[in-house]
Amino acid sequence: MCGIVGAIAQRDVSEILLEGLSRLEYRGYDSAGICTVADGKFHCLKTIEKVQALRTEVAKAGCPGGLGIAHTRWATHGGPSVVNAHPHLTERLAMCHNGIIENYQQLKDKLQAQGYQFKSQTDTEVLLCLIDSLVKTGLDTQEAFRQALLQAEGSYALALIDREHPGDLYGARRHSPLVVGLGIGENFLASDVLALLPVTRRFIYLDDGELVHITRGSVEIFNAQGQRVEKDIAESSLDAESISKGRYRHFMQKEIFEQPQALENTAMGRLSADGIAPDAISGLAQHDLSAVDNIKIVACGTSYHAGLVGKYWLEELTGLATSVEIASEYRYRKAVVKENTLFVTISQSGETADTLACLRLAKEQGYLKTLCICNVHSSSLVRESDLSLLTRAGAEIGVASTKAFVTQLLCLLLLSLYLGEVKGTLSAPRRTQLVESIKKLPALCRDALGQDEAIRQLAQEFAGKHHCLFLGRGIMYPIALEGALKLKEISYIHAEGYAAGELKHGPIALIDKDMPVVVVAPDNALLSKLLSNIEEVRARGGLLYIFSTRSLKLKNDAHSRIFTLPDADELLQPLIFTIPLQLLSYHCAVINGTDVDQPRNLAKAVTVE
Ligand code: G6P
Repeated sequence: MCGIVGAIAQRDVSEILLEGLSRLEYRGYDSAGICTVADGKFHCLKTIEKVQALRTEVAKAGCPGGLGIAHTRWATHGGPSVVNAHPHLTERLAMCHNGIIENYQQLKDKLQAQGYQFKSQTDTEVLLCLIDSLVKTGLDTQEAFRQALLQAEGSYALALIDREHPGDLYGARRHSPLVVGLGIGENFLASDVLALLPVTRRFIYLDDGELVHITRGSVEIFNAQGQRVEKDIAESSLDAESISKGRYRHFMQKEIFEQPQALENTAMGRLSADGIAPDAISGLAQHDLSAVDNIKIVACGTSYHAGLVGKYWLEELTGLATSVEIASEYRYRKAVVKENTLFVTISQSGETADTLACLRLAKEQGYLKTLCICNVHSSSLVRESDLSLLTRAGAEIGVASTKAFVTQLLCLLLLSLYLGEVKGTLSAPRRTQLVESIKKLPALCRDALGQDEAIRQLAQEFAGKHHCLFLGRGIMYPIALEGALKLKEISYIHAEGYAAGELKHGPIALIDKDMPVVVVAPDNALLSKLLSNIEEVRARGGLLYIFSTRSLKLKNDAHSRIFTLPDADELLQPLIFTIPLQLLSYHCAVINGTDVDQPRNLAKAVTVE
């Protein structure tokens, strides 16, 4: 989704801004732009191509000056075009925006009545003109900015500059992330710390409603009432390696192969001999979970699929009734909240607008406690939840979530283990057994990655296909859903995930020789049922690709190809069987020539509704 970078320095800032934009490309975008100030003039360039094209234009036309802002846009109001790309400009001001101004039409009508004419279809230009109109009443830029924001409804992260004041950079946020980067004699703004890692490791995270005034030597933060607020400075531990592809061709590929290490990191220091270490979950010291009787999980996309797997573990290991919902659905319905329910959100970014809105709603709905499973410690979700369980996957750059997903799964398993102990539903020997199984998980995932070459060859058979079905039963059903999501989002092959028992209630009508059917079939209690479903496909001439456990020794035949994975505790199978499906999507996307790390129309962090 949109990305913002801003900089104020003694040196020219265009290179800092362009490098920042490149580092935000992973979020997904359809146009980009930059605007600097030199000699009292704006130097603004925009493109509907990639940041590299903007870089070429800057090299040709020049973008001089020590003050500037830049943006990657993911279209919401108004299609992708040069006119709609940010920064937007008035005679005196320039601004970049992430988010949506919901009352833009009312504001626009008012401004049009005052004589403002609009070049773009964006809500951003409306807000900019509102600030401009207030500057024209004689307010200074900062006060005009603050007053305009009081009239704006919706979400925003903003960077604003005034060509008459080349020593000042302004920012503000509400429901969309924005950080201030602290340099030496220079300072920065960005929607994500990754954008600023080449210039600083020191950051201030803005909170909702805050406005920042930045000069080369100072950073002043104000609340919505215009009062100064003091904020902590945080040191980022991310390094350049975490955002480079290393020896891999794509970030997604690198992130798939990083999963064993990521899982080791997730578990590190969190396991005791027969359960969970006391400080495994942040916030437990203040928020006791012994009273929990029910669990509600809310998330979006891949994180929602993690929640669906979590339900199986939580109900089996803790006996607590668990329900899982899509955040964009939950937030707009009248939910009945049972007494003593723990509200759990799952999110890689911790900034997904719908998930965050659900958390805020849940706080008013009488849930016992809120807990988030998240990959970004500084995110809004972590800051606003009572308890948090960080996934520790490291920076995930590929838009399609891979290592974040498996580490979310492990966190859900750790949570189940913890609650099973607290509720007395898990015996000490079973807990010890589970802890031992979790310790073996990274090695089992390394083993599963050994299928890479076989799956690369298999992907050749999928290249010309337009549709694909994924089947699983029980805890493997959400893994089938996730396999289908991965395939469609990066290779653009239409795919559906189905509970195998539902096959005869509809999808069986689609089975023919052109429709590959991928089955996740580990050796577990539901295997015999699943084998019957496999026969239903075989009998209709379907093409079967079966991922199964090594010891089962299923055989290839004219209708089916078998891929084997290591034997493991049944509870760990979802994590292991996810890996070959990720590899299948990855190789299909490479063969189809899609933009693997930034698939069309998708965004990494969906910070608008
Ligand atoms: C986007 C991403 C997905 C992700 C989903 C939820 O759609 O492309 O990979 O699963 O958002 O994001 P979250 O950050 O809340 O996990």
